[in-house]
Amino acid sequence: MAVASRTPLIAGNWKMNLDHLQSIAFVQKLAWTLKDANHDFAGAEVAVFPPFTDLRSVQTLISADKLELVFGAQDVSQYDSGAYTGEISGAFLKALDASYVIIGHSERRTMHAETDEIVAAKSAAAIKHGLVPVICVGETADDLETHGPSAVPVAQLKAALAGIGAGTSAAPTDIVVAYEPVWAIGSGQAATPEQAEQVCAALRGVLAEVLGQDTADATRILYGGSVKSGNIAGFMRQPNVDGALVGGASLDVAEFAAISRFQKHVGV
Ligand code: PGA
Repeated sequence: MAVASRTPLIAGNWKMNLDHLQSIAFVQKLAWTLKDANHDFAGAEVAVFPPFTDLRSVQTLISADKLELVFGAQDVSQYDSGAYTGEISGAFLKALDASYVIIGHSERRTMHAETDEIVAAKSAAAIKHGLVPVICVGETADDLETHGPSAVPVAQLKAALAGIGAGTSAAPTDIVVAYEPVWAIGSGQAATPEQAEQVCAALRGVLAEVLGQDTADATRILYGGSVKSGNIAGFMRQPNVDGALVGGASLDVAEFAAISRFQKHVGV
């Protein structure tokens, strides 16, 4: 694995917000805010996930101003190129210097009918093109009631990892897993740190089973779902939580910068 230690990752999923002009202003302000606060980027990586139409602008700004921020896309095609109207190839994202791509977000699973098989194919495509997939898993409120906390996320991760691994064409150098309970996304009702830890520990068990203990030990697992500056510390104190995937709160520069600087208020 490329990431020798689990450097915490704070990832901002903008969803369908901010056009390319707004993205430039936002990223500039975020970079200044973190610089003013002497943010230790080596201690906590900060990534933004803008809409596709913003990516070129964000890339140009980050590279021209030598910002320490990184960026990724919110989705990728499972195919390399061809007659797939509206799709974006991992090759195009790599050519733009994107580092990451979110795969299998619950909004895509539910609103765009993304199956476990599609999530697996997209994860393999990301790896093939040298992108780090941020593989999202999580249970609905109904799943939680029917199957308990870990069953659905564990099954989703196992399915997503099918076809990824040593000896396949999609041997990962780095992957990120994001545990996002669907009931916590955009609801203002985050999981408790203990709930997040329980599922993230189970997900690390899946990584060990499928990809081996060394890979499991080196892989970052994020929690996502109503993360704010006021609750990030509790999550980051958990041994199996290595960062956060942030939606709503990632659209406010001051709030997202405060989340990124969790080390200042984690107190461990
Ligand atoms: P939220 O979204 O932080 O607004 O709950 C998280 C996500 O969807 O990644």
